[in-house]
Amino acid sequence: MPRGRFVVFEGIDACGKSTQARRVAAQRAARFAFEPGDSPLGAQLRRWLLDASAPMTPVTEALMMLADRSHHVATVIEPSLAAGTHVMADRFYASTLAYQGYGRGVDLADLQAATELAIGTCRPDLTILIDIDIDTANERRTRNAEDRFESADVQFHERVREGYLIMAKSDPNHWFVVDGRTTPEEVAAAIDARLDALDW
Ligand code: TMP
Repeated sequence: MPRGRFVVFEGIDACGKSTQARRVAAQRAARFAFEPGDSPLGAQLRRWLLDASAPMTPVTEALMMLADRSHHVATVIEPSLAAGTHVMADRFYASTLAYQGYGRGVDLADLQAATELAIGTCRPDLTILIDIDIDTANERRTRNAEDRFESADVQFHERVREGYLIMAKSDPNHWFVVDGRTTPEEVAAAIDARLDALDW
């Protein structure tokens, strides 16, 4: 049984990655997965992680994201890939490097080491970054009921975006950057062309 392919969709909030990940999963008979929260334990962790009324340190936040990821890899992602099912994931470890590392300032080398512990040998075959600027993200976002991350300042989101672009640039074989300011149809066409070009 050939192993399934693992594609991750990344980007700042409101970039459109969830829409695209769900669409590709439906069209290619793949498992749609997401972080944080894609398991019964993960759903509990997600509630705590997004609750802006309960402050936590950046390291605590990172470790809780990694707890969710470790459990997600073990119970959802690896079993799917091993069974030959492709997985389309809305966020994976680059989110922690971007948000808790570049965004919150947690040491990147420490985060990398903790990530290794959480995910073992599980790596995406391709990470698709849907890049949008902060003004576009703010225009798209609904202003009511902001969570811990949506309520962070503009500079935080700028650092997160910049972190993603640095990671994508440093590993072009495993990253594909799409301009997310165009229409969803244009974003979809760019993603489909890239996936079609892979010999999977
Ligand atoms: P979502 O809006 O894509 O469901 O993600 C919820 C929030 O969690 C989003 O603002 C990004 C944040 N996040 C991190 O800060 N680090 C992580 O590792 C992950 C997976 C998400």
